Amino acid sequence: MKVTVSLIKADVGSVAGHSVVADELKTIAEEMLNKAVEDGKIIDFRVFNAGDDLELLMTHRKGIDSTEIHGLAWNVFRKCAEKAKEMKLYGAGQDLLKDAFSGNIRGLGPGVAEMEFTERRSEPIVAFMMDKTEPGAFNLPIFRIFADPFNTAGLVIDPSMHSGFVFEIWDILEHRRVIMKAPEEMYSILALIGCKSRFVIKRVYPKAGKLPTDEPVAVVSTEKLYQVAGEYVGKDDPVALVRAQSGLPAVGEILEAFAFPHLVSGWMRGSHNGPIMPVPFRYSKCTRFDGPPRCIAAGFQICNGKLIGPVDLFDDPAFDYTRMRAMEIAEYIRRHGPFEPHRLSAEEMEYTTLPKVLEILKDKFERI
Ligand code: F6R
Ligand code: MG
Ligand code: MG
Repeated sequence: MKVTVSLIKADVGSVAGHSVVADELKTIAEEMLNKAVEDGKIIDFRVFNAGDDLELLMTHRKGIDSTEIHGLAWNVFRKCAEKAKEMKLYGAGQDLLKDAFSGNIRGLGPGVAEMEFTERRSEPIVAFMMDKTEPGAFNLPIFRIFADPFNTAGLVIDPSMHSGFVFEIWDILEHRRVIMKAPEEMYSILALIGCKSRFVIKRVYPKAGKLPTDEPVAVVSTEKLYQVAGEYVGKDDPVALVRAQSGLPAVGEILEAFAFPHLVSGWMRGSHNGPIMPVPFRYSKCTRFDGPPRCIAAGFQICNGKLIGPVDLFDDPAFDYTRMRAMEIAEYIRRHGPFEPHRLSAEEMEYTTLPKVLEILKDKFERI
């Protein structure tokens, strides 16, 4: 039987600037989603915060892009934004960029990662939630999970994964996509996804083996707030879902890709490069220089659509070294202050508030 897992997120207001979602908002979300379970709209849910982003993880049988499920998430965000306004929380309603819901939450501000698949005899899945960065931050770890034999031993030694995986890559500027196979087209995949502000991995599919080749095994949110709003309203803090085990990368192979704190763009004012730090849920709050960018991982087993978990997967001393390295990198790169490459490249800064400052300076120039 098929199950749909939907992870939908929005920043609807936070406490102490852009640090964390207030408990009051999480309580509202939980109450509303509990009601949706009682009404038979969804099977199960969990509410999280990734820093200042409210995260709704839901299971149901309505498929992806369901008006009912997107409408439910939209109503939860609206209610939470109302409460945030009443409490004068920071950035209340920030990501709800449009007023009218017309059937799908995509393009209205929130981020969405959802996939429908046949539930296996045992179905492990990991939900990743990042704050203070952008969808391209998932390119490196998702590539390594499904295509790098130095990360994922199963690509080499498990016959059911040995033929590799298929990547669906989106060009989020030109609104087009391309399907590419690994390992055959690995170098071409990297030629695209190395440019992480433009080309992002949207989905991964199995190639051959035990699993249906038309059902995704990983999905990433790719919504760009700038494109909806037409001006800087914060980064598009992304989420991803990754299925694991029995012919797919093991949970440990999936997590291994996060043992290297790679540089992502985001951090302060969505305008800086910095390391992504894998953290336990309790440290999912951005502090130093509004960061550094963080990622949490919630592990589940799905049982007839019900969620068993979460397991706080980065709550492990095995990731202490990664966190230490992340802070060494943070310390090093921060010393560059307003200089590139700590500050994003001029091209990427076009999507921030810098152009407004450059506009003021325009008339001070004279020809040379
Ligand atoms: C980054 C982020 C924060 C804010 C910063 C300034 O995604 O949300 O770093 O950009 O705190 O916020 P404002 O302009 O709201 O004072
Ligand atoms: Mg915010
Ligand atoms: Mg955020």
